[in-house]
Order: sequence, then C-alpha cells, then structure tokens
Amino acid sequence: MTNAAPIAIIGTGIAGLSAAEALHAAGYPVQLFDKSRGSGGRMASKRSDAGALDLGAQYFTARDRRFAATVAQWQARGWVEPWTPNLYQYANGVLSPSADEQVRWVGNPRMSAITRAMLGALPVKFSCRITEVFRGEQHWHLLDAEGESHGPFAQVIIATPAPQASALLATAPKLAGTVAGVTMEPTWAVALAFAEPLQTPLEGCFVQDEVLDWTARNRSKPGRDASPDTWVLHASSSWSRQHLDLAKEQVVERLHGAFAEMIGCAVPAPVFSLAHRWLYARPSGAHQLGALADADLGLYVCGDWCLSGRVEGAWLSGQEAARKLIAHNQ
Ligand code: FAD
Ligand code: NAI
Repeated sequence: MTNAAPIAIIGTGIAGLSAAEALHAAGYPVQLFDKSRGSGGRMASKRSDAGALDLGAQYFTARDRRFAATVAQWQARGWVEPWTPNLYQYANGVLSPSADEQVRWVGNPRMSAITRAMLGALPVKFSCRITEVFRGEQHWHLLDAEGESHGPFAQVIIATPAPQASALLATAPKLAGTVAGVTMEPTWAVALAFAEPLQTPLEGCFVQDEVLDWTARNRSKPGRDASPDTWVLHASSSWSRQHLDLAKEQVVERLHGAFAEMIGCAVPAPVFSLAHRWLYARPSGAHQLGALADADLGLYVCGDWCLSGRVEGAWLSGQEAARKLIAHNQ
C-alpha cells in the first residue's frame, strides 16, 4: 500500500537505510534525515590527509541467513569485499598469531561505500539534527535544531543510538521507557600514519589490555591506498569511559604508547594522527528487541542496540522496523 505522505526516517546509518530500502521496495515513499554531512553513522569513513579512514566499524560478519544473502548481493555489485588480515591477539602482555576461518567483510574501497550505495537517489536532508517529533491531527511533523519544521509524514522511524532516540520520544512514553533502559558505551578511535611501513606482518589484532581493544592496518583492506602506512586504534570501553574528556592530543599520545608497547616492532613518530570520540559506540549489554513499535501511533525505533550491537544487528533491526510498519498498514 502506498501512503500519500512519506515516512520520515531519522538516521542514515545502516539501520535507517535498511528500513528505507525495504520500504522503498514495497512502494512506500520515504524522506531521510541525518545530523551529519553524509550517510553511514558509525559505518562512515573520514576523509583525511592520510586518505579515507574507517574510524568506526572495522569489518562485519554475516551469521544471519537473510543478512548473508544481502551481503552476497552487495559483493556482486562490488560494494563489499572479504578482508583476510593476518590476525593476531594480544593478551597478558603476549602478542601471538590468531588465524581463524571467520569470513569478515569490509566496504570497498571504504566502509562508507555501503551506505552511500544503499542511499542511492532516496530523498535525504543532511546537516539536519531533528530535535522534536510531534503529531498533528493526522500526521507527524519534525522540528530541527534550526527551528525549521518538516512534514507532514504518515509515520516516523527513529534509527539513532538509544540515547539520541530517547530525546525524540516525548510523544510515546512507553517506547521512551524501554529505550531509556538501554545504555551505550563510548570508544575513542585514533588513526596514525607512518611515512615508512612498520616492519610487522600484523594486519589486525584483538587486544586485551588496559588501554586498547583493537588495531588494524588500513592498507591490508581491499581497495585502500598502500601509502602512507595507516593504522586505526580503538580504545577499550572502560578506558574510553574513564577518559571521555581527555584532550585529543593526549588520547593520541596514550594510544600511540599502548600500540608501540604491544606491536613488537619499532614505531616512529607518526606523520599524521587524529582522534575521534564515539560517544555512543556500542550498547552496554545484548538485547533482543528487534525493533520497537507503537504501530497505532505510527512511531518505530530501530538500531544496532535493539539486537547485537553490530552491523548485522543494525541491518536486521531496520528490516524489522520496516516489516512491522508494512504489516500494520496491510
Ligand atoms: P548509527 O550508525 O549510529 O546511525 C545513526 C545515525 O543517526 C547517524 O548517522 C547519526 O548522525 C544520526 N542521528 C542521530 N541523532 C540524530 C538526530 N537527532 N537527527 C538526525 N540524525 C541523527 N560493528 C561490527 O559489526 N563490526 C565492527 O568491527 C565494529 N566496530 C566498531 C567500532 C567502533 C569504534 C564503533 C563506534 C562501532 C563499531 N561497530 C562494529 C558497530 C557498528 O558500527 C554499529 O553497530 C552500526 O554501524 C550501527 O548502525 P545504526 O544505523 O544502528 O546507528
Ligand atoms: P568476530 O567474530 O571477528 O569477533 C567477535 C569477538 O571474538 C572479538 O571481539 C574477539 O574478542 C573474538 N575473536 C574473534 N576472532 C578472534 C581471533 N581470531 N583471535 C582472538 N579473538 C578473536 O566479529 P563479530 O562477532 O562480528 O564482532 C564484531 C567486532 O566489532 C567485535 O570485535 C566487537 O568488539 C567490535 N565492535 C566494536 C565496537 C566499538 O565500539 N569498539 C562496537 C561494536 C562492535
């Protein structure tokens, strides 16, 4: 069934775009909004003097049958490639190879390629932070941070991290109560570029120490520039929480130090560095919410935090929001 008024979708991360794709395919008009300048959310890639950097999601796995089938389509279109890094782990001060059989996917030539392609020509307003979602007599309207009103919309899907969704749920106290029960942890991310390649076979490493959680060599991923030799470092949730307001230069220094200590080769001063703070990086615990709905009201909420807190969970949650909306309209 096609509605006259479009469906507003707040958030162009993988969850919002998954919902948008499913609704568009079913003949529903959609209108997307995002506070950022581009799509992708935590799957976005940052353009920098050292090339494009995947500062958020590093790779993803596909364990659900439906998601695996979709990823196969993405591969056929050239949007994703498998990534087969020389994997290591670092625990109790010991660095050791840790190869496995898990298939890991990355966007090609950068993570943001996936959401960029999913967005296609769908209507979207970027740099538009929605601050209020309210209902008129028949339809929904959105208010943005500039005071501009958008609408009318037949239904609204909120596809943001839980704390950002909470702020938009004043009209739906039951949904707001559930969302308020979900807390999310931060992650400090740092990128370092070296003029000369580091003398190590390591391309990805699961780290268990006080500071770091993960590191990856950018050029080991398909389609990336070989030079300079760029690395992405993620701090652990607990370190990130404890150092939430540390100055970026100090975050770079601390993560660079921890990296040099674990990697087991000479690590010179980087020729380029940057730090990025993800305030709502991952849910504190696992949830099985699928997608939240007040179907009579016409309000839906989805995102990675509804399921596994991973790319796959976000995509599945977006599908579930669209499925519920379509089922209610039939
Ligand atoms: P998001 O990607 O956060 O999208 C939400 C969007 O909503 C954003 O674009 C935001 O700008 C927008 N928005 C928020 N509020 C508003 C508002 N008021 N108005 C308008 N727009 C708004 N997952 C994996 O599977 N593998 C990994 O290796 C991995 N590594 C990660 C590493 C880091 C550092 C981080 C941060 C995440 C990682 N993840 C990983 C998790 C993965 O990135 C997320 O699960 C997934 O991208 C979440 O998608 P989403 O659409 O639910 O949310
Ligand atoms: P996965 O199967 O590769 O990893 C899951 C977890 O298993 C890893 O975190 C690691 O602890 C362990 N592991 C897997 N392979 C290993 C190996 N070869 N050697 C040693 N340990 C290994 O991927 P999955 O399940 O898709 O998880 C996604 C990844 O995204 C996880 O690593 C998770 O920590 C990360 N993530 C990070 C976020 C952040 O904010 N930093 C947010 C969400 C996810």
